[in-house]
Amino acid sequence: MQPIRSVLAAAVVLALAGVAIAQTGYTPGPHNITLPSDWQQRFIRYATVDNASRKIIRHIYVNPEAFAAARPGQPLPDGTLIIMADTRARLGADGAPLLDQQGRFIPEPGWIAMGVQEKRAGWGVGYGPEKRNGEWEYARFNGDGTRSTASVEACFTCHLQTRAREDFAFNFWDYVQTRK
Ligand code: HEC
Repeated sequence: MQPIRSVLAAAVVLALAGVAIAQTGYTPGPHNITLPSDWQQRFIRYATVDNASRKIIRHIYVNPEAFAAARPGQPLPDGTLIIMADTRARLGADGAPLLDQQGRFIPEPGWIAMGVQEKRAGWGVGYGPEKRNGEWEYARFNGDGTRSTASVEACFTCHLQTRAREDFAFNFWDYVQTRK
């Protein structure tokens, strides 16, 4: 091929690649995650964690599509959206959480905060290796579902350092490995 032709061909390839990147519209950050308006009706609560040190209960939900598609030993499905919604625990006169007949904390009504992680093909591009959690993004929401402006840096750090081999998830990964 004549040199001028190959230069032109390369320019066309680069231009097309530029268009492809522009079309995905992805820029890293918590803004990629939106809280689905119907999550409380539609999502599956697969775990509830009593957190004694913070005197809260973490109600953990996943979208039904990912719940059905997840397989042991496999990365979690594209489109997995996990919502960890916290409530306060009801406290006794001594300030300690009251327990129900199963020994579990008793939730006070109303969410106090939500931590969310979502995984989509093409996400994570633009984070360095010290931060990137595969294709996951993290976001925080207030109890009323509005976006919180608090930092998500620690989310990336802790999940990367502790759970890189479990697709950056904690109890949803464990749940999938052991469910019948
Ligand atoms: C210091 C470590 C640490 C930090 C920081 C952290 N997490 Fe986690 N995360 C955990 C642990 C441990 C669990 C398992 C549930 C539990 O024990 O509370 C978890 C569970 C979750 C879950 C439920 C999914 C699953 O598979 O367990 C979501 C969603 C989540 N974290 C999102 C976040 C978000 C969003 C942030 C930042 C605002 C964050 N996490 C910060 C340690 C951390």
